[in-house]
Amino acid sequence: MMNLTEFRHKYTPIINSFLEKHLEEDIDNKKFSNIMAYSVMAGGKRLRPLIYLATLASLDHEINEDDIKTACGIELIHTYSLIHDDLPAMDNDDYRRGKLTSHKKWGEAEAILAGDALLPLGIQWIAQGSKNITEVEIITKAVGPNGMVGGQYLDIDSTNNSSVKDNGEFISKMEWLKTGCLLQASVEMAIAKVAETDKNKITALNKFAYTFGRSYQIYDDLVDVVESSQEAGKATHKDEAEGKNNTFTLLGLDESRQELIALVDEGKKSLDIFESSLLAEFFDLYQKVL
Ligand code: IPE
Ligand code: IPE
Ligand code: MG
Ligand code: MG
Ligand code: MG
Repeated sequence: MMNLTEFRHKYTPIINSFLEKHLEEDIDNKKFSNIMAYSVMAGGKRLRPLIYLATLASLDHEINEDDIKTACGIELIHTYSLIHDDLPAMDNDDYRRGKLTSHKKWGEAEAILAGDALLPLGIQWIAQGSKNITEVEIITKAVGPNGMVGGQYLDIDSTNNSSVKDNGEFISKMEWLKTGCLLQASVEMAIAKVAETDKNKITALNKFAYTFGRSYQIYDDLVDVVESSQEAGKATHKDEAEGKNNTFTLLGLDESRQELIALVDEGKKSLDIFESSLLAEFFDLYQKVL
């Protein structure tokens, strides 16, 4: 089994070529296709598709073209969430993935529509790639009102609202919904794809999905504090000034790092039953903020 560095080097170019080719082929209007592809192809770590594929590999599934299609569908949905998250009415950001945000480059109406179109196209690719209604159900639940969009609502509703400043339960729920749910879905979809029945493996993967999903927004909140905008490819040193309530504003630097480390330890421990460290290595990304 490959380690994560080898796995990324193998699959990131495959994901990127699939995205580029199929965005061009599947969208009739070339001008609009170009607007949608601009944000998708701007870069990005491809974390969610890689987690989906790495979970499949950890369950000894041989990755094929259909799996790549599903994985890329997840990335389209994630990119839609970023385009809308950056809009003036939401976080009002000018840079994303090291380039101008969609609305800065193309206009606000165009950015709204590009996001609107990436969501159903992503679901379409997932349905076609998975041929499995369960995976479609998992993803649609994860990004709907009780998932990502619900979390984005809580974020917006609580921005500049000092009454939630010290409410750890609220903040972890909001962060789980807006970010954790989609990462968790990437693991759950892979479990559904192979119809895994080994209870120990399912328990371990669910724990990984929870700990990675929960810790990822804590990591992102720390990126805002410790990285330059150059390093992050998006504006940083901004959340607190904009009245965002998050794990960093709640706990501060040291305690946020401790929280992150505790989740990493818990996640890695659960993965001990797997011979390969492929999934555990996803946590290594956090070294940048520790
Ligand atoms: C950023 O996601 C937004 C969050 C959900 C925290 P990523 O950190 O995965 O961003 P890209 O895809 O690499 O640009
Ligand atoms: C974004 O959280 C979560 C989603 C896009 C669903 P943030 O607003 O913190 O993400 P960044 O920092 O803009 O990437
Ligand atoms: Mg936001
Ligand atoms: Mg944002
Ligand atoms: Mg952020």
